[in-house]
Amino acid sequence: MKQRNMVSLLSLLCSTFLLLSAASMHGVEAVKEFKVGDDFGWPEPVINNTSVYSQWAGKNRFHVGDSLSFEYKNDSVLLVEKWGYYHCNTSKAIISFNNGKSSMKLDRPGPFYFISGTFDHCRNGQRLLVEVMGLHQSPHSPVSTLHHCSSS
Ligand SMILES: *[C@@H]1O[C@H](CO)[C@@H](O)[C@H](O)[C@H]1NC(C)=O
Ligand SMILES: *[C@@H]1O[C@H](CO)[C@@H](O)[C@H](O)[C@H]1NC(C)=O
Ligand SMILES: *[C@@H]1O[C@H](CO)[C@@H](O)[C@H](O)[C@H]1NC(C)=O
Ligand SMILES: *[C@@H]1O[C@H](CO)[C@@H](O)[C@H](O)[C@H]1NC(C)=O
Repeated sequence: MKQRNMVSLLSLLCSTFLLLSAASMHGVEAVKEFKVGDDFGWPEPVINNTSVYSQWAGKNRFHVGDSLSFEYKNDSVLLVEKWGYYHCNTSKAIISFNNGKSSMKLDRPGPFYFISGTFDHCRNGQRLLVEVMGLHQSPHSPVSTLHHCSSS
């Protein structure tokens, strides 16, 4: 009888662990989609407002797995290297979109450089640099907890 209680206590503990680890896995996967420029979107900035996208980037925190959504009309968004970003040069674009609503996944840590494919727009500040941090961290290790439980 006692042993039986012990077993059910263990299985209760185990399901608690499973719930906790499910919650922490959810935490890991709680990725965000950021709309670039918020309500403003991704147009060419108005005159003398060239820092609007660096201001927008500065008030957000980006992690691996998050994504950016660009909304625009009659324009484009290109993922480029650092050089292309500073020179507004599209010749070595990694990815380019001009469909009006484009989503880009931030799939690694480090800097991502985006520019408008229209040279003058880019010169006037339609370019975005985001610094991506590592994965959303969780103090628990869900995978090892799951293995432990399934062996009982
Ligand atoms: C833009 O800034 C320059 C230099 O500060 C200034 O001379 C010009 O009048 C400004 N233009 C507008 C439209 O605010
Ligand atoms: C720049 O553009 C943003 C977005 O429209 C706006 O909130 C901000 O007031 C503008 N700043 C200037 C100096 O025009
Ligand atoms: C679309 O963009 C191109 C290039 O910037 C420009 O020449 C054209 O006038 C724009 N058309 C509209 C309807 O805004
Ligand atoms: C972009 O860079 C290439 C060389 O990598 C150059 O041939 C081209 O003229 C540049 N385009 C512009 C618009 O500066």
